[in-house]
Amino acid sequence: MHFQWYPGHMTKAKRMMQENIKLIDVIIELVDARTPLSSKNPDIEKMAANKIRVLLLNKYDLADEKKTKEWKEYYESQGYFTALVNAKAGKGVRAVNSVVMDACKEKIERDRKRGIINRPVRAMIVGIPNVGKSTFINSFAGKACAKTGDKPGVTKGKQWIRLNKSIELLDTPGILWPKFEDQMVGLRLALIGSIKDEILQIEELACELIKYLRLEYPDMLREYLGFEATGAEHEVLLMYAEKRGCIQRGSEPDTVRAAALMMDDYRAGKVGKITLESR
Ligand code: G4P
Repeated sequence: MHFQWYPGHMTKAKRMMQENIKLIDVIIELVDARTPLSSKNPDIEKMAANKIRVLLLNKYDLADEKKTKEWKEYYESQGYFTALVNAKAGKGVRAVNSVVMDACKEKIERDRKRGIINRPVRAMIVGIPNVGKSTFINSFAGKACAKTGDKPGVTKGKQWIRLNKSIELLDTPGILWPKFEDQMVGLRLALIGSIKDEILQIEELACELIKYLRLEYPDMLREYLGFEATGAEHEVLLMYAEKRGCIQRGSEPDTVRAAALMMDDYRAGKVGKITLESR
């Protein structure tokens, strides 16, 4: 599911978000564990001032365990309540309940002192496209209240999903936009498949991946390719095309097809558990 982002979409998404934020106590923000920084939009900090903040590192099944732990600790040091989640498999999802309750402890206590008892905390999910918001809501709320589709610009009546006696969740997630201005952010989001491939040529993307893996995960790269990646990235891609039998008419290696195969494998976690950003 890919979105084309136009200024109109962004304005509308931002407006919806500002309206919804007024209604809630706690923001549950999803980032992609493979790019914990690039998949986060710093603008949310201003919009969410004074709100209780929970940050979920989603898709941890695809990310480097050690780096995920470092990022988790980092975000905790920044005042977030955090959890690791694999929304697709439903792993870590139930634990989010207690993380939210923990995050809201002081508020609940303040309410209690003011005589407000048993008022559920209200939460909303936010994140950039493709980070797993719909998958998470479905898993968190259970199939009965499943709602999908969060295309920007589609207005729906607000609905609260009663998760338990203590938490209510807004059924519509808030959509944040990536930080487009930063080229490295664009590259990393393209690598994980969160933004359209057309932004970069698939071959360029595969070459960038080879370059990064060579530096950070050389063993995984060797294992995946089945040979040592020496020489320029494009040469590596040529060799890989031959190895995978990607041959075009005239018996030339088809590097476009090889690059597409490699990117699919990487995005599906078949190259290994890889994180593109270090603390
Ligand atoms: P969004 O609402 O934030 O835009 O994201 P959405 O839930 O549509 O999820 C985007 C893609 O990420 C989906 O894959 C979804 O299955 C996948 N996903 C979500 N959470 C996780 C996770 O924790 N681990 C992994 N590995 N994948 C996750 P898709 O390719 O669009 O669909 P499908 O192939 O899963 O059917």
